[in-house]
Amino acid sequence: MPRLDDAQLQSLVTKASEARLNAYAPYSQFHVGASLLSADGRIFTGVNVENASYGLSMCAERVAVGAASTAGVRSLVAIAVAGGQPGGVWPCGACRQVLAEFSPNVLVLSCRSDGTHEIMPLRDLLASPFSGQSFAESEDRQSFELTAP
Ligand code: THU
Repeated sequence: MPRLDDAQLQSLVTKASEARLNAYAPYSQFHVGASLLSADGRIFTGVNVENASYGLSMCAERVAVGAASTAGVRSLVAIAVAGGQPGGVWPCGACRQVLAEFSPNVLVLSCRSDGTHEIMPLRDLLASPFSGQSFAESEDRQSFELTAP
């Protein structure tokens, strides 16, 4: 597990809470901010972006992963999530799977409204993610390649 000092962790918590102020959540009124530290030391943020067609809404964590991957990031160290509750919030199942695509051991910080946080490695939140390795091992792969245009 990568070593992060308290100042780095606290900075991620602060940035998630600051990002949260820009959440677009007119339907749920549940404002979420995320801040993500990449392996090359950069920080990316995201907020939930809802839509009148509810199913199109995006979680803050996936928006942050999108911003990071757009900048070329492929390895994540930590992600902080702030939802404004006293007890904190953990990423939904879909976001856990998306984080695992890049870093199954990324550290997840659940931020509480009092500024404190709880920390857990993603592997404890999603023990057996689906991975691209399954494609490589698939016995259907060759027939797919033969039939694809
Ligand atoms: N949401 C997030 O952005 N992250 C989470 O970890 C939990 C849920 C958003 C999705 C939706 O816009 C709102 O919170 C209510 O579910």
